[in-house]
Amino acid sequence: MSALLEVRGLEVAIGGLPILRGVDMEVRPGEILGVVGETGAGKSMTARSILDLLPAKATASFATCAFAGQDFIPPKARQEARGHRIGFVPQRPRGSLNPVFRVGNQLSATLRRLRDMGRRDARREALDLLRSVRITDPARVYRSFPHELSGGMCQRVCIAIALAGEPELIIADEPTTGLDVTIQAEILRLLGEVISERNAAGMLITHDLGVVADVCDRVAVMYAGRVVNVGATAEMYREALHPYPNRLVSIATSLDSGGTPREVPGRVPNPGDDLAACAFAPRCFRAGPGCFDEEPPRVARAGQVAFCHHPIDTGMVPR
Ligand SMILES: Nc1ncnc2c1ncn2[C@@H]1O[C@H](COP(=O)(O)OP(=O)(O)OP(=O)(O)O)[C@@H](O)[C@H]1O
Ligand SMILES: [Mg+2]
Repeated sequence: MSALLEVRGLEVAIGGLPILRGVDMEVRPGEILGVVGETGAGKSMTARSILDLLPAKATASFATCAFAGQDFIPPKARQEARGHRIGFVPQRPRGSLNPVFRVGNQLSATLRRLRDMGRRDARREALDLLRSVRITDPARVYRSFPHELSGGMCQRVCIAIALAGEPELIIADEPTTGLDVTIQAEILRLLGEVISERNAAGMLITHDLGVVADVCDRVAVMYAGRVVNVGATAEMYREALHPYPNRLVSIATSLDSGGTPREVPGRVPNPGDDLAACAFAPRCFRAGPGCFDEEPPRVARAGQVAFCHHPIDTGMVPR
C-alpha cells in the first residue's frame, strides 16, 4: 500500500546539536499511526518538521518527504498544506485559542480563510463542525470565549478547527495534556472517530499506551531521535521486536505496581550526548558488545520493523 505521508532520513539540528537523526515514518491512507517514546525522543520535532513549524534556529533536511505523491521537501509545499491538507491539533488547546475572540468566530474565520466561505456559510458550517465533535449545544459554545469553556471543550473546538480545511491527515501532538484523566480518553477516542468518519488518516503523538491500543492501527516507537520499532499495534503489544518498546509495553500492561519499576530503568539521553551505535544499548537488558559499536541492523518480522542487534524472538522470551 503506498503511503499518504512518507518521511525518510529526516534530520533536525538545533544550535548544532542533533535532535532527529534520520527519522523514517509513514502514514498510510485511512490509518491512525501512534507515535510514542519517552520525553525528548523527538516526537514533537518530527510533527513540527512535517508542518514546517520548527523553531527558527532549527535546521532540517529530509531524504524523502512526500504527501499523496507530491514532493513535500520544499518548505512552501508543507506550509501550503498546513490547515488545508494536514490539520493540526495542538497540545494546549486554551493557549492556542485567542482569548479575546469568541471561539465560534475563530472557527468561522478559519473556514473563511481555508475554504473561501462567506460569513453566513462559515457560521453554518462552524455550527456543523461543533456538532460533529459531539458538542450538544453548539450555539452556546459558538458564542463563548475560551475562558468560559472547560479544557476538554476547548480541545473539541480545536479539533473542529483542525477539521475546518477538510484535511486528509490530522496530526495531534499530546492533545490531552493537562486535561482531566477521565476526559483524556474521551477526547482521544473522539479524535479517532472523527478521523475515521472522514476517511482521513491520523498521526497521534501520546504517552498513553492504553489509548494507542484503543485508537491506533500501527505504532512507531521513537528513541533518541530515531524510530527504533514500528508495526501493527496488535503485533507490537503482543511482542515488540525491539527491547525498548517491549519493556515499555510490559510495564504499561503489568497489573502489579508493587515493587515493579514503572519506568524503563536508566536515563534518556540528551541532545549532544555521546551515543552508542544503538542509543538504547546502555539501558538495554539484551545489549552485547556489538550494540555499542555497530549500527543496529534492520529486522523485519511479525508485522514489524525494528533496528536491533538482539531483537526479541517473538514468543520465546520470558518477561
Ligand atoms: N526550541 C528548542 N530548542 C532547543 N532544543 C529543543 C527545542 N525544542 C525541543 N528541543 C530538544 O529536542 C529534543 C526533542 O524534543 P521533542 O520536543 O521533539 O521531544 P518529544 O518526544 O516531543 O518529548 P515530549 O514527550 O516531552 O513532548 C529534546 O531533547 C528537546 O530538549
Ligand atoms: Mg512533545
